Amino acid sequence: MDRFVIEGGRPLQGEVQVAGAKNAALPILCASLLTAGQLRIRNLPPLQDVATMLRLLKGMGIRIDRGAGAAGPASEVTLSADAVDRLEAPYELVKTMRASVLVLGPMLARFGEALVSLPGGCAIGQRPVDQHIRGLQAMGADIQIDHGYLRAKAPRLHGAHITTDMVTVTGTENLMMAACLADGTTVIDNAAREPEVIDLARCLIQMGAKIHGAGTDRIQIEGVARLTGTDYAVMPDRIEAGTFLCAVAATGGSIFLRGASADHMGATVEKLREAGLSIHEQADGIRADASQRPRAVNIRTAPYPGFATDMQAQFMALNAIAEGSSLMVETIFENRFMHVQELLRLGAQIRIDGHTAMVQGVTQLTGATVMATDLRASAGLVIAGLVADGETLIDRIYHLDRGYEQMEKKLSALGAHVVRQNSSARAVT
Ligand code: EPU
Repeated sequence: MDRFVIEGGRPLQGEVQVAGAKNAALPILCASLLTAGQLRIRNLPPLQDVATMLRLLKGMGIRIDRGAGAAGPASEVTLSADAVDRLEAPYELVKTMRASVLVLGPMLARFGEALVSLPGGCAIGQRPVDQHIRGLQAMGADIQIDHGYLRAKAPRLHGAHITTDMVTVTGTENLMMAACLADGTTVIDNAAREPEVIDLARCLIQMGAKIHGAGTDRIQIEGVARLTGTDYAVMPDRIEAGTFLCAVAATGGSIFLRGASADHMGATVEKLREAGLSIHEQADGIRADASQRPRAVNIRTAPYPGFATDMQAQFMALNAIAEGSSLMVETIFENRFMHVQELLRLGAQIRIDGHTAMVQGVTQLTGATVMATDLRASAGLVIAGLVADGETLIDRIYHLDRGYEQMEKKLSALGAHVVRQNSSARAVT
């Protein structure tokens, strides 16, 4: 198991390239199931979750051709689902990545059946998939739970009016993909408005889908008989970009995030400016300068365009060393404060009361050994390690690798001192 060793206290300085968005790439990869044509996907982030999704799709019989000349993880793939022979998402893969459930809608819509493992428990909250199931049932699917699996059948899905009980990102994406090949028109009310939903819709529209309203809370999809292949570049990762912005706000310094787009980062950018970070939006990226100790900012997570839950842990690290105190309310997931106990080990002053964390900024964190518990929690700990005095060891960094491309290399390029050690290296040290 890899871990990071961070020598804190260095300001970040320089330029990094922002990768393609994980949470846009995963549903777009699943869209390949909707067509027998070739789907070429570019700007694919070379992440563990992307590798898992490719493994899942390959296991179904999808042909995967990597971009020419790509050494190591490909940033481009072409997927051909013209000979799918196994309509199943097995537990072994689904348990490691909940987004696997995104194959359910496309499989059912194109092939009339699907067997998808129920995801089971998750570190950050219960995360049921009842809304995915309910929506597909409204479209005519018969879905039974059978030995831990969702067994879904629908000779032909039909359009339906679906109002989801809560805003769900992958739920909206699953239903939108299914509706593309259903008979008639589907309306999804209370739809997620996240930029990643829009990115998926754009790709589907390029494939021939008739979708209106993506980015609003009412998406209307007119089913078509078939979709075709296309060539699509995934949007930049707003969470990766936001994480680097939090890092520089915490350490001080000046960075340029090439390829980042502030268009979809409204709440994050607003809060960082409130914290004192100077942010300049440019055509080719985002420049940020931090010349003062950050000011504490209150946060309340909410569906887009509200403040993203995926940025909460990183802002917690920032607030931990900010001037003043802050209230941070997590409204999306019931167990997304697991980084708090670890931040306390670094000297942070945080109290939790239900879904609210009260953070009193301290002038200095001190390095210690901490444990990453989930993807964004790990990112928060890295930021804390970058500002802490002395050495911080972050164990279980595999959580981070699911969603950040070689973070230690990107941070090192910005002048940070971050080293990855693997278990064999640890054995000899
Ligand atoms: N919910 C239900 N029933 C459902 C679906 C969702 O009760 O059928 C609840 C969830 O338990 C949660 C809330 O609704 O309380 C919102 O969950 P949502 O479905 O929107 O989350 P998701 O689609 O599973 C995506 C991202 C997450 C991100 C959330 C919220 C992907 C692959 N994942 O998850 O990303 O936190 O939306 O924005 O898009 C991450 O990247 O670290 C990550 C966890």
